Amino acid sequence: MIKVTIDGVETEVEPGTTILNAARQIGGDLVPPAMCYYSKLKGSGGKCRTCLVKVAAGSAKDPRPMPKLVASCSTPVQDGMVVQNITSPEVLEARKGVVEFLLINHPLDCPICDQAGECHLQDLAFEHGSAKTRYEEERRTFDKIDIGSKIQLHMTRCILCYRCVFTANQITNERVHGILNRGDAAEIGTYIENVIENDFSGNVIDVCPVGALTDKTFRFKSRVWFVKPMYAHRNCDKCCGKTTVWMKGDEVFRVTGRKDQYGEVEDFICNDCRFEKKLASDWTVEGPAPIQRNSVQAQNKYLQGIKVDAPKNIGYGNISDR
Ligand code: SF4
Ligand code: FES
Repeated sequence: MIKVTIDGVETEVEPGTTILNAARQIGGDLVPPAMCYYSKLKGSGGKCRTCLVKVAAGSAKDPRPMPKLVASCSTPVQDGMVVQNITSPEVLEARKGVVEFLLINHPLDCPICDQAGECHLQDLAFEHGSAKTRYEEERRTFDKIDIGSKIQLHMTRCILCYRCVFTANQITNERVHGILNRGDAAEIGTYIENVIENDFSGNVIDVCPVGALTDKTFRFKSRVWFVKPMYAHRNCDKCCGKTTVWMKGDEVFRVTGRKDQYGEVEDFICNDCRFEKKLASDWTVEGPAPIQRNSVQAQNKYLQGIKVDAPKNIGYGNISDR
């Protein structure tokens, strides 16, 4: 085991652990945000730069600081490393710049976007963004594309995190979409608008951190904060069958994978569970799914002045408290 100190908190981790995962072991506000890293997807990370941190001391053997901020999702810790995240004004300033950069082309259409309320970019912009843009050039826009009968691609919102590409590569038996072109011409596409049709393709919706890939069976049916996430399961011969069903009364509005506090699915689920099982009788409902107290979905659902012991971004509440 090796020792690393992040924002003054020391922890011990296995050699080879990244700074981001070491921070996740500690938990709380000092965990850097991550828009492209996804722990369940091999090779993810290193694309968005939201997880930048400052290495104030490289290791016990060589305590010199690293000359530039580093991506915490792809930098392994060294024994004796000292890292600064929220305690470094330089990091916070850089993160603000990254948010501004991510928002250069991303439309500010949260009021009509299905991802609003569970969009990582919305949260990031709220916490680090600036109310003004300095960008004067024309933003790039794309027409919406149907990728198969159940998934809508709205490329204008894509931040090119590659998560959906890794998902298709690693958990489906054929990938028919990817990032086409390079630089500011890069876009997610299926080249000749092939459809993504295989048993696990719907997971690209769950991994997309923004509203670029959305579930056509749920689009515009409800804002997420008006439906209640409930843990449910069914016997499924394709996947684990453990999901979150989003309900209003007895009606199932949508089905997603169960997500942890970092917004990552616990298990990928199949398209049958996600798109075809929309009756309450299809599911054994276990009870309310936890939601983050600081998420949009939780706004006004808790008493003011409540003392929350857990740090902000691991502060899970139970929806039954609402
Ligand atoms: S469509 Fe979503 S998941 Fe895919 S690269 Fe764009 S932002 Fe990432
Ligand atoms: S999460 Fe590290 S670069 Fe995107």
